[in-house]
Amino acid sequence: MVKTKTDLSFIHRFVPPKDIPSDERAKQGATEGKTFTTFLLLHGTGGNEEDLIPLAHEIDKSAAILSPRGKVLENGITPRFFRRLAEGVFDLEDLKFRTNELADFVNDASKAYEFDLQHVIAVGYSNGANIAASMLLLRPEILSSAILFRAMVPLVPEILPDLTRKHIFMSSGLMDPIVSLDEADRLFVLLKETGAKVSLSWQESGHELTMEEVRKAREWLLQYTSQSSFL
Ligand code: MLT
Repeated sequence: MVKTKTDLSFIHRFVPPKDIPSDERAKQGATEGKTFTTFLLLHGTGGNEEDLIPLAHEIDKSAAILSPRGKVLENGITPRFFRRLAEGVFDLEDLKFRTNELADFVNDASKAYEFDLQHVIAVGYSNGANIAASMLLLRPEILSSAILFRAMVPLVPEILPDLTRKHIFMSSGLMDPIVSLDEADRLFVLLKETGAKVSLSWQESGHELTMEEVRKAREWLLQYTSQSSFL
């Protein structure tokens, strides 16, 4: 049964694509007649569905936005996308369950809001980047590509999916106290093994985001969407 907007299983925001003038779209690398991108925004621990909307506008102001709020409440108050046992130690059963639940939500939302599931790009930060990486590994049909800020290895599936058609931009902090260099590198290597076209951009920063890397993500997206294999 097709779910209506009000039946959808996550608290969320949906922002329709902006019909910006064609000369401006062309400047952004979009071509006439192409389908709009939908960003799946996935916030960090303690965030909500509003947090990453300004960031998404910086990356591509014409894209539609689907932004759910994580359902797991740490200590009863802090929203996350899946349970953890300690900092960086994940409850893998919950992670798998939550990954599938989120993937089903995106699928249902694509019907309710009529966006194309073939053009969904995850934009995740920290805990949100980790569930985005988990979705790439467990439910790759939901995402065409992903921008992962401060991600670590969420899990290693028994059988690696074939991600040869996916494009992934990772951005990690050289001084990140939460995600070590090795951990970010481990995810990069794992995603490479799946065949994904993944790039890892290192920032002179900690766990916090910088404008510089948002600009880099924007450039990466422009380059990627201008390739004919995308839209
Ligand atoms: C996580 O739990 O997903 C990571 O440790 C990042 C964080 O949310 O602190």
